[in-house]
Amino acid sequence: MAMLEVKNLSISFGGLKAVDDFNVTIEKGQLYGLIGPNGAGKTTIFNLLTGVYKPDCGQITLDGKNITGHKTADINKAGIARTFQNIRLFKELSVLDNVKVGLHNHNTYSTLSGIFRLPGYYKVEKKMDERAMELLKVFDLDKEFGYKASNLPYGKQRKLEIARALATEPKLLLLDEPAAGMNPNETAELMNTIRFVRDNFDMTILLIEHDMKLVSGICERLTVLNFGHMLAEGPTGDVLNNPQVVAAYLGE
Ligand SMILES: Nc1ncnc2c1ncn2[C@@H]1O[C@H](COP(=O)(O)OP(=O)(O)OP(=O)(O)O)[C@@H](O)[C@H]1O
Ligand SMILES: [Mg+2]
Repeated sequence: MAMLEVKNLSISFGGLKAVDDFNVTIEKGQLYGLIGPNGAGKTTIFNLLTGVYKPDCGQITLDGKNITGHKTADINKAGIARTFQNIRLFKELSVLDNVKVGLHNHNTYSTLSGIFRLPGYYKVEKKMDERAMELLKVFDLDKEFGYKASNLPYGKQRKLEIARALATEPKLLLLDEPAAGMNPNETAELMNTIRFVRDNFDMTILLIEHDMKLVSGICERLTVLNFGHMLAEGPTGDVLNNPQVVAAYLGE
């Protein structure tokens, strides 16, 4: 069974068809790329997948469960986590606490135990600290665990967002231009980390990026979007040889 199956997904804003009949099947463990120029509809697709927008039509199935039109919080619980094009960290919280926010969505103690700080509370908190530190290590952020998130350099803030998303133990991770604003070294390092996450967390990942070289270097399959339409879809090698894609991305 596919991890994500999207059929005939469309949404308009006023007269603008931002996403027009989008279809995709993403298998478990796949690293899938979504690429297209500004305004192509990439982020809108993430907003549809995560319940921020309700589609005009179409169906979204996650791991066999129909999640079309469900609320964002329910979709998150069902197993989709995302990062945002513009970083959305809790800037005043520490690096560790940002990851623990993600963990809190999953590991719960009873409200009473939380309010009165009963032994169960400390046990769960300790486990969360350990789990959060493990995640921070993956992203080479463990030494900065006590820093305020806003004091991290930009590239590390981007990585922290991914760590926080992973803390919710999703089935599907959506990354919206995670390399935006990074220098080439940071980008290369980030791509290695994304591969590591896929391989070691058994994760299914849908990655939005602008840069064809970047996406094709890491993703097994791609969709190329243009003005809300699918220009091409398929295994990366085939898409790169598609004449329409060659014409649109020639010289990049
Ligand atoms: N809430 C909204 N109201 C009106 N128009 C919207 C809304 N959200 C998105 N759009 C429009 O839908 C189109 C697709 O936008 P979207 O943000 O999905 O593009 P994108 O591919 O993510 O572009 P970028 O690469 O610049 O991030 C754009 O024309 C945008 O202006
Ligand atoms: Mg976008």
